[in-house]
Amino acid sequence: MAMIAKQCPDIDVHVVDLNQARIDQWNSDDLPVYEPGLDEIVREARGRNLKFSTQVDAAISDANIIFIAVNTPTKSFGIGAGRAANLEFIEKCARQIAKCSKGHKLIVEKSTLPVRTAEAVKRILSSSANGATFDVLSNPEFLAEGTAVQDLLYPDRVLIGGESLEAVERLAQVYGRWIPRERILTTNLWSSELSKLAANAFLAQRVSSINAISALCEATGADVDEVAKAIGTDSRIGPKFLKASVGYGGSCFQKDILNLVYLCEHFGLREVAQYWEQVVVMNDYQKRRFSERIVRTMFNTVSDKKIAIWGFAFKKDTNDTRESAAIHVCRDLLEERARLVIYDPRVPESQIRSELEMSFADSVGGLSDKHRKLIETNVNVVGDAYSAASEAHAIAVLTEWDEFKTVDSLRIFDDMRQPAFIFDGRNILDREKLVKIGFEVHSIGRPSK
Ligand code: UGA
Repeated sequence: MAMIAKQCPDIDVHVVDLNQARIDQWNSDDLPVYEPGLDEIVREARGRNLKFSTQVDAAISDANIIFIAVNTPTKSFGIGAGRAANLEFIEKCARQIAKCSKGHKLIVEKSTLPVRTAEAVKRILSSSANGATFDVLSNPEFLAEGTAVQDLLYPDRVLIGGESLEAVERLAQVYGRWIPRERILTTNLWSSELSKLAANAFLAQRVSSINAISALCEATGADVDEVAKAIGTDSRIGPKFLKASVGYGGSCFQKDILNLVYLCEHFGLREVAQYWEQVVVMNDYQKRRFSERIVRTMFNTVSDKKIAIWGFAFKKDTNDTRESAAIHVCRDLLEERARLVIYDPRVPESQIRSELEMSFADSVGGLSDKHRKLIETNVNVVGDAYSAASEAHAIAVLTEWDEFKTVDSLRIFDDMRQPAFIFDGRNILDREKLVKIGFEVHSIGRPSK
C-alpha cells in the first residue's frame, strides 16, 4: 500500500487495522517491519496520501477499492488442523465490508488464499444490508521479504484475477502507473488464487531439492555449491533458488504448501497431496539433520557447552522469524541441554524468547515449567557476534546476514574454546581462510574440514 501511495500521489491510501499498537508504530519513526528502503517510502507518502488508523468502518465506507490483507494462518484446531488455512479473519473482514458499504466497490483479495475463497467472499458480500454491490478480484502478492521494495518497483509480473473485465482493468490501471502493461497478467479468479500457492510450492520445492542433494554431497564428497552451479547453468533450470541451506523458513512456504496439500486431499488427489507434502518433509529433515550434525561432531554431546547462534531471522534483511530454521535448530540443541548465546542484528530478544517458548509449547497444555526454566537458564541473547562467540565451543550460522562474512575471524578464534567448531548453515563463510586459522568448519553439502 505504501508503494501504491508513493507511485500514485492522487490516490488516497488508508491502511486500517484493529490493533492500535500496530497502527501507532506505523505512525511513528520506528516501523514494525524492517525492510530495506521502506522507511523512506512511508516517510514520503505518510501525511500526504498515506494514512494509518483504526477507523475501519469509516475507511470501508469511504473507499472505492478495498484490499483485504489479513493473515490466513494454518488452522491449529478442528477439521484440517495443521494444513488448511484459517479463513476466520477473511470472513470477518467480508462481513464488516458488507455491513459498512454503500454503492459499488471493488474488493481485492491480497491475502494468500485457498482456491475458491473468492466465492465465499462474494456470497457474504451479497448479503449487504444497504444494497451495495461488489466486484471481487484476486491480486496475490509475489514480493519476498528483505527485497520487498525492489520487488514492488520492478516486479516480474503482477497477477489480477477476476470475472468482470472492467473491474480487472480498473485495478490494472493502478499498477500500470509504474509497471509495463505486458507485465500485468490477467486471469480468471481461480487461476489467480491457485497460481500464488503453486508459485510458492515450486520455489520451496527447489530449495528442498537442492537440500536433498546436499545430504548426498556430504555422504559422497561432492560440493553442493559446485553441483548447484553445474545444474543452474542449464538455462532451462536456472541459477536462482538453488542455494542449499539449513532449511527454508518464513511465513509463506510451509503454510502455502500445506494448504495446497489440503486442497488436493479435499479433491481426493491423494498422490498429488503426498507429492507436495514431501517438500515439507524434506525441509523438516534438513533442519533436524543440521542440529544432529552439530551434536555428533561435538563428540556426541553438547550438554553444558556454549554454542553461539549467529542469526535468528528466517533470512537476511528482515526481522521476521516466522518458521525460521533457527527456531528448530535452537530447540533441538536446548533439548540436548546446550547453552545458547544468540545474536541477530534485527530481531529483538523478546521475540527470540517468545519464538522458543512457542516451539516448546504444545497446543493444549501450553509451555511446561521445565521448558520455561530451560529457556530462562540456557538462552542468552547478546548485542553482537563477538560477544556471542566469546568462550563458545561452537558457532552455528543460521541466517546469512552480510556482517558475518566480514567479522575478524582471528579475534573470534582466540576467544573460543578449542577445538573451535563452525557450522555454517548458509555456506556464506570463507572456509579455506577459517581452516587456515585453525577452525574446524562444517558447511551444508560439503565434506567437513
Ligand atoms: C516467498 C516468495 O519468494 C515470494 O515470491 C512470495 O510472495 C512470498 O513467499 C509470500 O508468499 O508472501 P519470502 O518467504 O519472503 O517470499 O522469502 P524467500 O526469499 O522466498 O525465502 C524463503 C526461505 O527460503 C528463506 O528461509 C530462505 O533463506 C530460503 N532459501 C531461499 C534458501 O534456503 N535457498 C534459496 O536458494 C532461496
